[in-house]
Amino acid sequence: MLLRVDSDRMRADFDALAEIGATPDGGIARTTFSDAHVAARAWFQERAREAGLETHVDSAANHSAVLPARDPGARTLMLGSHLDSVPQGGRYDGALGVLGALEVIRAVKDADLDLPVALEAIDFTDEEGTLIGTFGSYALAGQLSPSLLAAPRGGRERLVAEFERMGLTEDGVLAASRDPATLAGYLELHIEQGPALERSGIDIGIVTGIVGSSSFRLVFEGDARHAGTTPMDARRDAAVGAAAFVLGVRETVTCDFPGCVATVGDIATEPGSFNVVPGRATLRMECRSPDAAELDALEQALVELAHEVTGEFGLDLTVERVGRFEPAPTDERVRSALTNAALALGLTTMELPSGAGHDAQALAAITPSGMVLVPSVGGISHAPTEHTAWEDCVNGTNVLLGATVALASDAGEHVVPVRHP
Ligand code: GLV
Ligand code: MN
Ligand code: MN
Repeated sequence: MLLRVDSDRMRADFDALAEIGATPDGGIARTTFSDAHVAARAWFQERAREAGLETHVDSAANHSAVLPARDPGARTLMLGSHLDSVPQGGRYDGALGVLGALEVIRAVKDADLDLPVALEAIDFTDEEGTLIGTFGSYALAGQLSPSLLAAPRGGRERLVAEFERMGLTEDGVLAASRDPATLAGYLELHIEQGPALERSGIDIGIVTGIVGSSSFRLVFEGDARHAGTTPMDARRDAAVGAAAFVLGVRETVTCDFPGCVATVGDIATEPGSFNVVPGRATLRMECRSPDAAELDALEQALVELAHEVTGEFGLDLTVERVGRFEPAPTDERVRSALTNAALALGLTTMELPSGAGHDAQALAAITPSGMVLVPSVGGISHAPTEHTAWEDCVNGTNVLLGATVALASDAGEHVVPVRHP
């Protein structure tokens, strides 16, 4: 008989978690190490302890709940995602994956399955990039380089201050890596965050690979001058350059890089006044591609564009790369386990790439990894209106459960139900 998760228990947890950092518009504000984020992580560990699971926190502040195997030397099958959010995010992104992982482990425990691997539900630190982006998972995968710590997405000063406040050290973070030989794989449940499943009327998405991304901070430097007396032809207006650049980015990607995306997500102009020509514009840009060589070419094209535009408007330019995450294909055996689990539940499936970054991207480099996606209503994510039907959340969690049991069985001898009727 197929095991199923407890939908009501999971729903109660989902609603309770969504209260932590809730915003009036129905969304979530839980940026990394904010009070709400810290509270959500404490709440997660409390649920785990209540369920009789072991809990621990590693030196990159990843929070885990563990169901050990009978054999203390057994490998660990990890399931997880993240409890941090973008500044004005939704309730499902990351949270569903962590709760789904916890619920799967509780279902296995309730059924007294004697699995030949330990199961670990993990909430990775800073997936969304308040500080670095997929920081906890890259640290665990041993892929966090000192250069990434030196030029982080959220700024070096903020990183140093937050590490100090949270009792983290750079040496500790770099030492959070796990020996891949101790891992049996990694599975992540997530909302799709795009429209493909809903448009196709398909229940479950199986991720073929996760796009790579690069982030840049660009500073356009002109002259701050009187807005009333400086003639239009005598200005070095950084905001005008920034505006031209934003349009150029759109043009470059749509014309020359189909299948890629690029976004200028933030423009800060200084001094920032009605009556002063902007002397400086600081832009935060990122670009994504499913292919590493194409990502190289896209990066180069966008940096060249910045040089051209600043040249045209007489501005100076500084470009700093503040993160690069490589594209990551998922593991074929994990994809089959997820597909088979969905089919056994009578659910429809399709394979698709993920345009969103995920912790699975980091884990894929060191252990067989895969992701299961459930439909996002209207394809909306990173917004308070993010929504997924509860039935779809439960379907995805049941798929995660089925694949967990199947992969655990493959990883050892037999999975023996030890409970007697
Ligand atoms: C994370 O959600 C990302 O794709 O930026
Ligand atoms: Mn996200
Ligand atoms: Mn996410």
